[in-house]
Amino acid sequence: MIQIPRGTQDILPEQVELWHKIEEHAKALCHLFNYQEIRTPIFESTDLFQRGVGDTTDIVQKEMYTFEDRGGRSLTLRPEGTASVVRSFVENKRYGLPDQPAKFFYNGPMFRYERPQSGRMRQFTQFGVEAIGSKDPAIDAEVISLAMQFYQGLGLKKLKLVINSLGDPESRKAHKEALINHFKPSINEFCSDCQARLEKNPLRILDCKVDHDHPLMGTAPSILDFLNDESKDYFAKVRQYLDAMEISYVVDPTLVRGLDYYNHTTFEVMGEGFGAITTLMGGGRYNGLVSELGGPESPGIGFALSIERLILALQAEKVEIGQPKPIDCFITTIGERAKQEVPVILNNLRRSGISCDQDYMDRKIKAQFKQADRLNVPFVVVMGDEEIEKGVVNVKTMETGNQQEVEIQQLASYIKEHIS
Ligand code: HAM
Repeated sequence: MIQIPRGTQDILPEQVELWHKIEEHAKALCHLFNYQEIRTPIFESTDLFQRGVGDTTDIVQKEMYTFEDRGGRSLTLRPEGTASVVRSFVENKRYGLPDQPAKFFYNGPMFRYERPQSGRMRQFTQFGVEAIGSKDPAIDAEVISLAMQFYQGLGLKKLKLVINSLGDPESRKAHKEALINHFKPSINEFCSDCQARLEKNPLRILDCKVDHDHPLMGTAPSILDFLNDESKDYFAKVRQYLDAMEISYVVDPTLVRGLDYYNHTTFEVMGEGFGAITTLMGGGRYNGLVSELGGPESPGIGFALSIERLILALQAEKVEIGQPKPIDCFITTIGERAKQEVPVILNNLRRSGISCDQDYMDRKIKAQFKQADRLNVPFVVVMGDEEIEKGVVNVKTMETGNQQEVEIQQLASYIKEHIS
């Protein structure tokens, strides 16, 4: 038997309604906030992520599905959506449109070669938003409030919003030097990746999964002590907006995020997942990314969350949504003549917008009723040869047990009338 690849999953028909509900919720919410959907390719040039996400990150160094196509090009299955959206923004010259900032949302599969475990997949689905073109702190607050409203609107309660600021390039530079001085004397005690990152990008040491518990991690200089006045002011304004919107948060100076494009505001939402508190969503501001990818200086901010982790959190909090939707009616038959009539009746019902089905397994009438029960249909139509002669059928309303003789010609309108 051929098995599903590690770290991937089938979403079976019983679960798919939940996915639809979540997707519809995301779409409706984005409309409320005036974000429009964008769909970009599943694979992109490898360079895009090397330059966008950063070549000292775990994602680029260890987790990408990179392959050469038959034309010798290096392509990568997208590990995240931001770099692709920014590429599209630049390539389609969306910065030239009068409607700025450009506000996008996306929903689709991402791929990372990680060690699979509950809530960590190799193929997972991200819903994300990106607002490109504005450096107004109000849009930072808008993006964060959209994320919170997304979770709260689905019924999640145990959420914790964590925010931080990584400051502007000047603040980052001062912090970088402090980090190098902090780690350099003991760098031999760290993994080889951290050693390689020390001079190039010491911030990455702070989110190393291997050296997570090294005592120097806890005493590392905090970025908040290195913010220049402009960066401090920006962060204060974001917090003021969040306070005014009554969105509670905790400032965590160790929140550096695992992608290189961030500056100023970063944030994550923690929630209850797979038996422990986990990161449900992450995002932040990326003011240099558009120019890094060949566009004009254009600031941006966004977040992404995975539907898989969201579903774990919904299960952990016992939130029930997305029960499968039953069809309207099931047709049972007694006798050969009746059976022959069913396909046309089904076809007419479906043309009138009524969802319906029949037995295709030659079941006895009792088993046909059992099938109707399993499908949880509100109406069961019973057709016998005698009724067919008279051009009628019996319609049973399952909730009340009522049976009513209805003319075949009137069946669709009868069901439509009586459906709640
Ligand atoms: P990220 O923190 O790498 O950020 O991922 C965002 C979210 O994707 C995580 O919080 C988590 O819910 C989910 N996620 C990541 N990896 C996995 C995985 N292997 N399995 C299941 N879920 C996963 C980004 O991707 C940025 N592009 C976010 C962003 C958008 N920043 C600005 N705009």
